[in-house]
Amino acid sequence: MDKIIIIDYGSQYNALIARRIREMHVYAEVISHLDEITYDQNIKAIILSGGPNSVYDELAPKLHPSVLSLNVPILGICYGMQLLIQTFGGKVGPGDIREYGKNQIDIEHESLLTLNMHETSTVWMSHGDKVLELPETFEMLASSKHAIAMVKHKEHDIYGVQFHPEVTHTSEGKTLLSNFVFEIAKAKPNWSIKDFITSKIKEIKEEVKDEQVILGLSGGVDSTVAAALLSKAIGKNLTCIFVDTGLLRKHEAIEVIQNYEVFSDMNIIKVDAKQEFYQALKGITDPESKRKIIGRVFFEVFEKEKSKLKNASYLAQGTIYPDVIESISIKGPSHTIKSHHNVGGLPKQSTFKILEPLKELFKDEVRAVGHTLGLGEELVNRHPFPGPGLGIRIIGEITEEKVHILQEADDIFIKALRAHHLYDQVSQAFAVLLPVKTVGAMGDMRTYEHVLAIRSVNSTDFMTADVSRLSYDFLDEVSTSIINQVRGINRVVYDITSKPPGTIEWE
Ligand code: XMP
Repeated sequence: MDKIIIIDYGSQYNALIARRIREMHVYAEVISHLDEITYDQNIKAIILSGGPNSVYDELAPKLHPSVLSLNVPILGICYGMQLLIQTFGGKVGPGDIREYGKNQIDIEHESLLTLNMHETSTVWMSHGDKVLELPETFEMLASSKHAIAMVKHKEHDIYGVQFHPEVTHTSEGKTLLSNFVFEIAKAKPNWSIKDFITSKIKEIKEEVKDEQVILGLSGGVDSTVAAALLSKAIGKNLTCIFVDTGLLRKHEAIEVIQNYEVFSDMNIIKVDAKQEFYQALKGITDPESKRKIIGRVFFEVFEKEKSKLKNASYLAQGTIYPDVIESISIKGPSHTIKSHHNVGGLPKQSTFKILEPLKELFKDEVRAVGHTLGLGEELVNRHPFPGPGLGIRIIGEITEEKVHILQEADDIFIKALRAHHLYDQVSQAFAVLLPVKTVGAMGDMRTYEHVLAIRSVNSTDFMTADVSRLSYDFLDEVSTSIINQVRGINRVVYDITSKPPGTIEWE
């Protein structure tokens, strides 16, 4: 399989570059700038991502020597372009005028990179530094009002762009990336979901052999698809454990088990660990600590179940690509935003070997795998639900009573979305219980109860998200139902923060 390597210099959006390329059916992978790239004939090109540093800072990430030694086409984006210019002897420095947001570029010299692009094109810029002087070996291909916008090495397939072709605001960004991938790197579009499934099944079989695998089933899309894939690969050697953490949605514990009845030959064990979780979370308010504790208790439960099974040495998880990128910063400089428990929470002393068959995939790709494996719409199109569950949707200390209040309110919201045929039109919706009480009046009584936030977002890959434009009438209906039916809540607010700057979950 041909692949394009993307080197992470710290941009939050480097995963978007990978996404754009995979949309063209070419496999793309993000690695840290510290990693050495070893020769692999499948590597067709390297892309250097953007990043927050200035190339002239002493501690700024450098170009790893292995990048040039591979002799494959290179495209530097923003910081990546400035790094190329500096490495080849040019000059980069602070610009007089920074360019953020939409800008225009004029293409002055045509090249393979600009094939089928207009002479003037709208691009999205985000830079303070700029190229002050080109190395002798480079030529300028395009400029913006204040900066050199596109460059090319005179003899080699080394290109740089000051703008971000991966974001949708760059109107011809897809054309440019496609030119790089197909015209310059000559990659073949041979990445498909079917191939992914076939090669993953083979890989799992080869790795696991006759050993037993335990998988934590949450009822969400990711773990369900991971279970289906593993089940295809190793059959009865897979045991799924569904843990009732006491932090699930209303009726979730029952519904999940019912949903899995279609997998007639799958071993599923249900473990009631509610009290273990509540006990461990007593008095804890810090979001990161909650995530870590929930992760730890999960693993303790798994370890206990594991000891009951013969030969169970693997733990499989439904980790997906955004979890990996957003939580461990792939040894690179992308900032850690949250520790997703299923990536960052594995205790060091754990004896499990980890299997994460979906860790290269984006959410919509995971759904496509689910569809291809024949899972039902209902299962595949469920909104994502985070591993730590309602634990990260109760801000402040978690108590059984608060879980109950949130479950009731969340259930009303989700049912209303379904009743109005909105559930499938939004990507993820949920309620969050706040540790804030406000005064209200119900009947002639003064009330002093919790505030509930409701949130609904639209997104394809959950790396970025927009607020769902739900109508006021609908929101009004939901708010009224919640306040009338759920004791403990007397005010409902709608969260109108997109991602970024917010994250989807509140903690
Ligand atoms: P954020 O809040 O980071 O969430 O914008 C992005 C997506 O990931 C889900 N999420 C998680 N999923 N374990 C999971 O399996 C976690 O710890 C976790 N935290 C967030 C979140 O619901 C959204 O879909």
